[in-house]
Amino acid sequence: MPNKENIQIAPANGKLGILLVGQGAVTTTFIAGVEAVKQRLAKPIGSLTQMATVRLGKRTEGRSPMIKDLVPLAGLNDLAFGTWDIFEENCYEAAEHAGVLEKSLLQQLREPLSAIRPMPAVFDQSYVRRLNGPNVKPKGSKMDYAEMVMEDIEHFREKTGAARLSMIWCASTEVFHKPAAVHQSLREFECGLQKNDPEISPSQIYAYAALKSGVPYANGAPHLSTDMPALMELARERQVPISGKDFKTGQTFMKTLIAPGLKSRMLGLNGWFSTNILGNRDGEVLDDPGSFQSKEESKLSSLEHILQAELYPDLYKHFSHKVRIEYYPPRGDAKEGWDNIDIFGWLGYPMQIKINFLCRDSILAAPLVLDLVLFMDLAQRAGMRGVQEWLSFYYKAPMTAPSLYPEHDIFIQLMKLKNTLRWMCGEELITHLGMEYYD
Ligand SMILES: NC(=O)c1ccc[n+]([C@@H]2O[C@H](COP(=O)([O-])OP(=O)(O)OC[C@H]3O[C@@H](n4cnc5c(N)ncnc54)[C@H](O)[C@@H]3O)[C@@H](O)[C@H]2O)c1
Repeated sequence: MPNKENIQIAPANGKLGILLVGQGAVTTTFIAGVEAVKQRLAKPIGSLTQMATVRLGKRTEGRSPMIKDLVPLAGLNDLAFGTWDIFEENCYEAAEHAGVLEKSLLQQLREPLSAIRPMPAVFDQSYVRRLNGPNVKPKGSKMDYAEMVMEDIEHFREKTGAARLSMIWCASTEVFHKPAAVHQSLREFECGLQKNDPEISPSQIYAYAALKSGVPYANGAPHLSTDMPALMELARERQVPISGKDFKTGQTFMKTLIAPGLKSRMLGLNGWFSTNILGNRDGEVLDDPGSFQSKEESKLSSLEHILQAELYPDLYKHFSHKVRIEYYPPRGDAKEGWDNIDIFGWLGYPMQIKINFLCRDSILAAPLVLDLVLFMDLAQRAGMRGVQEWLSFYYKAPMTAPSLYPEHDIFIQLMKLKNTLRWMCGEELITHLGMEYYD
């Protein structure tokens, strides 16, 4: 059904300011990548906003524009970057430190990267136990911190002349916390900020400041941030888009490719054992059981939702699912993942699949950051507020309305994303029915 309401999308005029919390491996690989693409040193591989097309109309019409030609997106030359981190290194030094990109490439990007200096962070070591750094805000209440972040946002807006802003969490994973009483309404949350409620984390303070400032907020890590009643209420009240959580990059990306395929053929699953070795700072933070628990919850959720054991008990009722991450410094950002998948087929006969994915975490994450900040800005210009479920494609644990289960199947997620773009532009949605070709 085409969009009869005729959504008005404001044009992407002027600069888009990208605010990144955390200036580690993912952030520096993202910013350096955008600068490299701008200088035509490399291509934006892995980014739908830069490389993908959308089919419009019937297969016989031959209409498949690039996404960036179909919807008005900010261009790469119109982006300005701002970051926060607990370390003082500029973006060039941080990229060197992260060790993801070759020094020869970074050398060519030295000027724009050196100009980005992180703003002092809101940091609380009880939420990220393995780190400590000097570039933090002066002591204050949690409400003071939120106000300081709002000042940073306004200062960045003025300094860069950005017409619009889009914010994303690419900082460390915080320890696992369930929503508490203070997260149940905006009023309680604001009271908690004043009273320094220990259940309010730094990431929630950044998210609150973004939403109060009318800035869309995306969460690339698995911990609790806007996925709670208080901040959902604020997002709707301020008409701001939110999305999350936890970038779907290496092993979970593979899981959401394979599991829908097994289910589509009604093949059963006895067990799925996933292990990783990882040696970057993210791996070090995840070595702490509290941070790992946030990751584990997010990594475990996808299979259960995709396989729907309640509908297919003979196939999926009793499978065992384990996920391990081992911090192993020699590997740096070049993570290695192993999956052992025990499946069964006709008459219950067992089979095995082994996957050995030698991936690069930040190389997989950087294009997702680009797409998310551009799509979140598009959503805001299209008047879409609250949870952006159509961006589930990018996340391990997609946020949804409270009464809905999340859609994890990557192919359904992609269809949802592209249909949302068609709908925004008043184009027919594609159902893949195709009866008209045989009339
Ligand atoms: N790379 C991937 O494939 C991938 C996939 C899913 C999720 N993630 C998540 O993305 C995040 C970033 O990953 P990374 O590899 O860049 O990690 P990283 O450790 O290299 O960078 C994180 C940075 O955040 C900073 N930081 C920590 N707390 C902060 C705070 N309160 N305010 C400001 N800065 C703070 C740290 O100092 C560090 O520089 C992690 O949470 C990770 O779990 C990454």
